[in-house]
Amino acid sequence: MDTILEVKNLSLNIQKKQILDSVSFSLKRGSFTAICGKNGAGKSQLLRILKGLRKQSDGAIFINKEDVSKNRSKRLTQVGLVFQESDLQIVGETVEKDLRFGPENLGWSEDRINNKVDEMLNLFSLTSLKDRRPSTLSGGEKRRLAIASVLAMEPDILFLDEPFSALDYPSVISLIDTLIMLHEKGVTLAVVTHEVERFLAHTTNTLILKNGRLIYDGASESALAELKKAEVYVPNLPFKDLSWKM
Ligand SMILES: Nc1ncnc2c1ncn2[C@@H]1O[C@H](COP(=O)(O)OP(=O)(O)O)[C@@H](O)[C@H]1O
Ligand SMILES: [Mg+2]
Repeated sequence: MDTILEVKNLSLNIQKKQILDSVSFSLKRGSFTAICGKNGAGKSQLLRILKGLRKQSDGAIFINKEDVSKNRSKRLTQVGLVFQESDLQIVGETVEKDLRFGPENLGWSEDRINNKVDEMLNLFSLTSLKDRRPSTLSGGEKRRLAIASVLAMEPDILFLDEPFSALDYPSVISLIDTLIMLHEKGVTLAVVTHEVERFLAHTTNTLILKNGRLIYDGASESALAELKKAEVYVPNLPFKDLSWKM
């Protein structure tokens, strides 16, 4: 598998505080990565930089081997980001209109937009909800719509920031199913979370941030001891049981 994203010595200082300290890693095409760390570790700031919403203080970002460190507008389309407050990302009057919004802004042809909207409605089991107002959806359905609307724009990589927050148990299970389905379809996926016990068993690799520094980059199965060092809660279970989906 080839490398889709490479980050070299990425640092972020806000005022005098070092938020990210020389973070380097790469993600393989088609990988399903968990990016973990306790609250305040720097996870969301890392995503904001990768997406191009914030300028790094130092360091380089390559996507598909191209240096896009200074090309924030290119990263905006290459990097899909589902925010923690994903409800705020939903702008359409209906489910279908929300899915159309991004592709329309990208200036796609009507045919291409219609095909993409149908594909996303099917993939995310939203077809029966397509005329509903987003405000009438359940929390889990809203989260699925937010992910579908980001993926509709065909980003190279899809990042999700704390996607499990504020979801009830059935919605967490349904979201895990969605993530597994996207991984099986070949989407390059990275989930940022401090709640690893919900889904870690399904990921291919793990990155751990502690105080803005990357302290682990490797197989998820071997990450458990390091997660504890980073003060991320992990129940005393074998790796294969680290999923709410049994
Ligand atoms: N606008 C800001 N100004 C100053 N500090 C900030 C700002 N945004 C985030 N931080 C700090 O950056 C650190 C990392 O935050 P964040 O990336 O949100 O952590 P995480 O997502 O891992 O919980 C925290 O210490 C936070 O207080
Ligand atoms: Mg965060």
